[in-house]
Formats: sequence, C-alpha cells, structure tokens
Amino acid sequence: MPRFPELRPRRLRLTKAIRDLVAETALTVNDLIYPVFVREGINEPEPIAAMPGQYRYPVEKVTDIVSSALELGVKAFILFGVVPDEKKDHTGSYAYDPRGPVPRAIKAIRRDFGEEPLIFTDVCICGYTSHGHCGIPVEKRGRKLIDNDSTLEVISRMAVTHAEAGADFVAPSGMMDGMVKAIREALDREGFSEVGIMSYAVKYASGFYGPFREAAGSAPRFGDRRSYQMDPRNAMEAIKESMLDVEEGADILMVKPALAYLDVIRLVKESFPHYPLAAYNVSGEYSMVKAAAEKGWVDEKLVTFEILTAIKRAGADLILTYHALDVARWLREGYNPF
Ligand code: PBG
Repeated sequence: MPRFPELRPRRLRLTKAIRDLVAETALTVNDLIYPVFVREGINEPEPIAAMPGQYRYPVEKVTDIVSSALELGVKAFILFGVVPDEKKDHTGSYAYDPRGPVPRAIKAIRRDFGEEPLIFTDVCICGYTSHGHCGIPVEKRGRKLIDNDSTLEVISRMAVTHAEAGADFVAPSGMMDGMVKAIREALDREGFSEVGIMSYAVKYASGFYGPFREAAGSAPRFGDRRSYQMDPRNAMEAIKESMLDVEEGADILMVKPALAYLDVIRLVKESFPHYPLAAYNVSGEYSMVKAAAEKGWVDEKLVTFEILTAIKRAGADLILTYHALDVARWLREGYNPF
C-alpha cells in the first residue's frame, strides 16, 4: 500500500518551537521608526482624533515621548512640524526658519539625549503653505501648476535648516523631480556631507493619508496631489522613481503607503537589493486597525503583528509606523502570535 502523502509540510508547523526555528521573517524593535508630530503654539500634548493613541506634542514636551520610546528600545524618530495658519504662506517660507517647531525639537532632543536618538525629518512644505500643496503653485498658460524647480530651492533650504539643528537624515516627501539631488548638493555645499537622505522615492497619491492630513493640518485647499504623487495603478514606474533617486544620491529608499503596495515593496527591493528599503505604514492603515479593534472586530495585537511582519516579508528593511511604541511594548512582553 503506497504511503501517501509522502511530503508533509505540516511537520514544520507542528509546534511553536519549530515554527520559530524555521521562520523566514522576524519583526524587531530595531526595524521601527516612530513618527512624531511637533506643534507650535500648544502647551500640552493634543490627541489626534482620527489616530487614537497618537498626539501632537508641544516642542517642550517632545522629549517626554522620546524618553518613553528610548526606554522601550525605539531609537529612531521622524519629525513632522505643525504650525499655525498665520505662519503659512504661498511658498512655505517658515519651513526653513530655524525658530520653527522641527529645528527646535531636534535641539531639545539632542540637548536631553545626545547622540543616541536617530533623528529623521520630513522635508516637505505642505504643512507650511497657505494652500497645503507640497510645491509652489503658479499660473502658466492659463493653468494652475505646481512648480517643480522653485520648490526645490525651498526644500533644499528646509533640509539644511534641519541638518544645522542636528538631524541625522532628512526625508524629502514632496515627490518633486530632482529633489534628492537638489538636497544632496545643498547639504554638501553647507558642509553636511554626513547627513543622509531617506527619499520618499515611491509615494502614491493615496486615500490612506487622510488621518495624517488632519494631524498635520496639511490637506490641499484646492485640487489634489495627483500631478506629483504616483498613480496607484502603476508598479513599474516605481523602478524609474527609485533609479532616479539612487542616481541622485539617496541613501535609503521608501515605498509609501505599505499595506496596499506590498507588491511594489517587493519589486523595489528586488530591483535595488543593495539599498536599504523603508516602508511607511501610513496613518490610514493605522486608523483602520484601531477603528476595527475598538469595535472588537479584529484582534489589535495580532493584526498589527501580521501587517508589520508582512511588510518585512515583502522586502522592507525598516518600517515607519505609528504602532512602533505598542509593538515595542508587546515585543518586550514576549508577545509572538505565530
Ligand atoms: C507630506 C507627508 C504626508 C505623509 C507623510 N509626509 C502627507 C501627504 O503626502 O499628503 C503621510 C503620512 C501618513 O499618512 O501617515 N507630504
């Protein structure tokens, strides 16, 4: 009598110990970057309604959240500035003011924690412009356009301001052509050759940014971002965007959002295996999990681990995520749902 089945993959799933032993992917606290919103003009942390568990911090209190994160082993942060409407203008000039919330927060973090925290900064003007676009609008031949090249000058100055304040890496997110090269040249010219660039190389025009725009007060006041962010229908274009950013001098590439773009993460990792790849698990992805968990429809810990592990499995080396502190806590408690 033939013995059947002869091949039994289930042997490798029989106990937790063997599953852990053969697992291809592991999520660790070293993979995580925690996004932090720094708001000018408030005195207490302010909850972000659409992102339960997340806050906008006053400059003076950013060090509190950094301290809690460091205790949990989260060492990398990306800072986003939130400024009052009176500080916004057509070109986003407050973005490169050293008195702005991001440069001040960087200095406060360095003052309290020295070199240990790894500080990334988001470099984009949408939170600093009166119209909310990531570039400067101009009228040209009867049409409103987001002008690429004049925007490069503003974001280059913004990057230099962040570098001067002590940022380790700047992260341009505005999807302007040539942004990496313009920023690299400006940093080098000003003597910041050690400051790196993590480029939002592959950033889609996505509905998943909704809660972030509430958090940062950066929603466009007219039109949308489809003339600069990528079309969700395209995957191969991600190779072109990554290739250009590599040629322009990016140190780390990024795909954003993550969850609906796992194929793109895999494609970029395989096309540029010699570059670290970040994935941004964006605000809408976070809020969906939180909302469903609040209703008791999903197990928050389980789906969070499943999502973040899937992002790593797809090819991301590091993940920007609002879940970072929760995950660090759960990992510390020994949580492993697999
Ligand atoms: C700025 C920027 C955005 C996000 C990161 N940087 C918003 C946007 O492009 O509209 C989104 C992050 C998130 O949704 O968590 N350009």
